[in-house]
Amino acid sequence: MNFDKKRSVTKNSFVRNSEAMLNGIFGTTDVTPFWVADMDFPVANPIKEELQRLVDRGQFSYEFNSQGVFTAISGWYQRRHDLSLNVDNFVQVTGVLTGIALLIRELTDEGDSVLIQTPAYHQFSKVISTANRNVLKSPLKIVNNNYQMDFEDMAQKMTASEVKVMILCNPHNPVGRVWRKEELEQVVQLANKHHVTIISDEIHSDIIYSGHKFTSLMTIDANKHVALIGSPSKTFGMQSISNGYLYTENTKLLANMKAFAESLYIDHGNAFTTFATITAFEKGEAWLDAFLVYMQGNIDWINDFLWSELPQVKMFPVEGTYQVWFDFSATGLAGDELTKVFGKAGFGASPGSWFDGDAKHFARMSFASPRSEIKQAFERLKDVLEQTAVPVSGNNKCESNKATSAGCC
Ligand SMILES: Cc1ncc(COP(=O)(O)O)c(C=O)c1O
Repeated sequence: MNFDKKRSVTKNSFVRNSEAMLNGIFGTTDVTPFWVADMDFPVANPIKEELQRLVDRGQFSYEFNSQGVFTAISGWYQRRHDLSLNVDNFVQVTGVLTGIALLIRELTDEGDSVLIQTPAYHQFSKVISTANRNVLKSPLKIVNNNYQMDFEDMAQKMTASEVKVMILCNPHNPVGRVWRKEELEQVVQLANKHHVTIISDEIHSDIIYSGHKFTSLMTIDANKHVALIGSPSKTFGMQSISNGYLYTENTKLLANMKAFAESLYIDHGNAFTTFATITAFEKGEAWLDAFLVYMQGNIDWINDFLWSELPQVKMFPVEGTYQVWFDFSATGLAGDELTKVFGKAGFGASPGSWFDGDAKHFARMSFASPRSEIKQAFERLKDVLEQTAVPVSGNNKCESNKATSAGCC
């Protein structure tokens, strides 16, 4: 797979390229879109061939195979994460957000609060508030230039009796942390003490960089309150071949979720999602390994560029995900002013305020794109920042120029 190949300029209806969205966010369509957590590469050949096989058959009779999907997923977890999952403990849903929306309705009542850790993937707030539940935020804190959970704050918020559920994101979108086992143990301990069920969104669990190890919440507590949610979409670039699954060893929750998904007729995929998912998990490993090497190269390139050319832009270590979280404070730019600069530079990163109302001088960039596009975008950003920005506090060069090493910027 040649990840360096330039994106096609053919018009398409990808959300990331939507003219209405680009105009709405950046005030222009002359933007390289880095604002959606998807990738700019074709899927692995075996997945393409499998989809082609279905198209060539030309017959689209009712067809799905949930057991086959669960077997492929559990084989993947065993090989990739050394985690044994029982095929009978999965529930298939149409996507991760669908799974979270169902779990919130199953586990809480209207008016209850759901805890999230901010900055947070912006759809979490939507999925909570559209179910008429309250969003309760526990801000992550920055310690030694990286994000950590604030256990004191979480304990305080969990004592509020209306908190029944917490959504954990591991690896964390947008800050890129891969939560360590000890951190997860501490969260589970707190949640158990306060009778809070954790929904563990592990959709980014396969995007992990060297020096870090993904720990599923299932290895800490699969029995009491927790559910693992995942999908092949982030791992294999299958975002529009929507698919998701949840997993729990809590028998009551499992039975209720199976019945809930069945009652809505969303407990199975279609032929495309089914066979693409099975093929991805059974034949996609070599492609993923190559993709991760390329992504590490992108991280290193961005880090080196900031270090030498744009030290006023601070980058947090990317331990997992293909999103990077930047702090633009030292440029003196924030909010609309910062987004306007992005528009002028064609730098299509998401405004930080999407993830945390207070993060107006932050931004998130999806970097699963050819390196040439990333280079071009940063060169343009540098030019525009040099014309516009007012440095307010020197630079943010850190001791080591490898943002992937713990404790660096
Ligand atoms: C943490 C997280 N959860 C869920 C989703 C969306 O998943 P799905 O498309 O399966 O609903 C995303 C997409 O960016 C995400 O980053």
